Amino acid sequence: MASRRKDRLSVERVVEPVEIDRDIEPILRARISVKRVVHSTHVASLAQALARCHGVDADGARRAGLLHDLWREAGAGSIIEARRLGFKRANATEEDGSDVLEDWMDGNPVLLHGALAAVEARERFALPQVWCDAIAFHTTGRRGMTAEDMVIHVADHACEGRRGAHVHEWRRMAFEDLGSATLALLENLVSNLVEARAMLWVPTVEARNDLLARFGSRQRPKT
Ligand SMILES: [Fe+2]
Ligand SMILES: [Fe+2]
Repeated sequence: MASRRKDRLSVERVVEPVEIDRDIEPILRARISVKRVVHSTHVASLAQALARCHGVDADGARRAGLLHDLWREAGAGSIIEARRLGFKRANATEEDGSDVLEDWMDGNPVLLHGALAAVEARERFALPQVWCDAIAFHTTGRRGMTAEDMVIHVADHACEGRRGAHVHEWRRMAFEDLGSATLALLENLVSNLVEARAMLWVPTVEARNDLLARFGSRQRPKT
């Protein structure tokens, strides 16, 4: 047992804890629960470590990690904010939220939280656009994911505190092959949605197909 633990530690990178940036801390603590503030610091730590490993901006990664769930607990307030910001679906005028929620969101305002945090990260904290985009798509992924998108998606789903059979494996894989780790995470997400008989998130399907073409070994099913 001891040797197995040693084996795991020897291949897993050390992820240093981060301090919350002074300009971010008050608003983070005012908006989300203590538990989610802790989660956000775990995401920031892993994002910073992955960014250093893969040669992208580590400060941006840390700040994006801290801010990614700023709107996660806003509930129906997300719809009001989305309207205020002028989010608009084409050809949708209804008052039940479908003017801002896509069909695949299936009435769930939580799926707006990345896009709303991205706007605030840009306007209030002047986060570079590439990290705002990573925040916007941190839940679903998207076609053509950048290294920054992958850093935040993986950091969110494989950080300390996440449970699940594959978390350690994904974390280790992400330092070696970020694209393959993101592909593995998105495939797991698609499977979970199917298993739960939930709507498939369209950007996630597009992200997974695109990553499969870029990093996977794809097969054609017999039809
Ligand atoms: Fe989130
Ligand atoms: Fe998160």
